[in-house]
Amino acid sequence: DTGANEPLRGMYMRSFAYPSLKDRIPIILTALIDHLSREKESIAQRYGEGAREELKIVIGSISKLKSELQTNKPLTKIESGGEGAEHYNHLIDEKTKLNGEEPTWFYSEWLFAECYLYRRLRETFETTKHLQNYDMFEYQKTSVYHNSIISIREATKLTLDCLEKLPTLSEVGLKKMVIDFLKLSLWSNRADLSLSGGAVTEQESICTHLVELDKFILVDDTEKVYHALTEIPVNGQPKILDIVLDNAGFELYFDLCLADFLLSAKIVTHVRFHPKNYPWFVSDTTTHDFYWMISTTKDNKDPNLRKIGTRWQKYVDEGKFSVETDEFWTLSSDFDKMKTECPTLYNKLGESTLVIIKGDLNYRKLMADLNRPYTTPFSVALGSFHPNKLVSLRTMKCDIASGLLPGQAEKCAAISPKWLISGEYATIQFDEPSSA
Ligand code: F6P
Ligand code: MG
Repeated sequence: DTGANEPLRGMYMRSFAYPSLKDRIPIILTALIDHLSREKESIAQRYGEGAREELKIVIGSISKLKSELQTNKPLTKIESGGEGAEHYNHLIDEKTKLNGEEPTWFYSEWLFAECYLYRRLRETFETTKHLQNYDMFEYQKTSVYHNSIISIREATKLTLDCLEKLPTLSEVGLKKMVIDFLKLSLWSNRADLSLSGGAVTEQESICTHLVELDKFILVDDTEKVYHALTEIPVNGQPKILDIVLDNAGFELYFDLCLADFLLSAKIVTHVRFHPKNYPWFVSDTTTHDFYWMISTTKDNKDPNLRKIGTRWQKYVDEGKFSVETDEFWTLSSDFDKMKTECPTLYNKLGESTLVIIKGDLNYRKLMADLNRPYTTPFSVALGSFHPNKLVSLRTMKCDIASGLLPGQAEKCAAISPKWLISGEYATIQFDEPSSA
């Protein structure tokens, strides 16, 4: 059974869910256990002697979690209380009622099982006294930034050059730059630590490859995005852009460059960034990662980085860049449920000019992780999620797609058998509420 029109599940051995649960996630957990064991001393120095004992318990819990996953045990309740615990526990109860037995790792919906895993990791640290604020993936996220510094320098130079050209730019020139910054933000999504099993690799330069990369964009709605951004000019009123963030380090840097450019071009007046409330899918941006990135850039030795980091800090100080948090982003819910489960967030997203939704996991949530024909129209696949004009910028890292032309999938598969999951291909998909 391939589970057509069903949510992906680990039991469908031909879906990416199976190797993810079987191999990829255990690798992430093993790397985490190794890291914590190796770094005991430095963690104790930073978080106090009490942390040393607690680390032993934490390592034990993570090993237990890994073994529960590998032996397909039932998903147990989150006992710590705290953010989202009710949501996960309620769903475990619902699934138990529905199937007459407790949900297990491989038989549950993959999206649910994987989000639940990161909630369990959170529980492990949340129940300690000294390590509550410890981010177990911080070292990987900061390494990506440092390892990709060449590419980051390049992006900084490009952004500063574009900003300088702004005053004399024609309409055509402006449009090209906006589209280029959207594409840079798109390709920066290749840098995800969950797909690489947590391995930090140097991110290749994307600034100099944009044109060659175009042939890998399977749906390119950038014209519509440009139109949505510019159709109503700034007229003394606030004009907001929302960015639902994905990965920290490398990807976030390009999102900030895009935001800076749109602010400087006076296309928008405010940018609201939506990070996660705790460590999530290894590389996702937390609020702390967001501010860390700005201060590290501002204090860098490279004068260009210092210059751009100082601009970003000023935007934060002036309220032009703001961070908006919501527990919804670390629930397992697909976005179709936002309207009923989290109406305040749904309405908030409706206040802006455009919502940019970054990355693969957010894409899975947009699609409810359903294994549907890849030609399903994007707006149909969004279900009831039409809060505003929105664009998904996603490099393809799981076997879900929509909006493709007939024959496009077959063509890609012939060129690259792993086209759906390798991050080689990408989509830029726009949607607007039908009444707009
Ligand atoms: O692990 C599930 C998954 O959604 C993969 O499909 C993807 O590799 C990764 O997580 C997250 O990617 P992104 O950072 O682009 O959301
Ligand atoms: Mg991510």
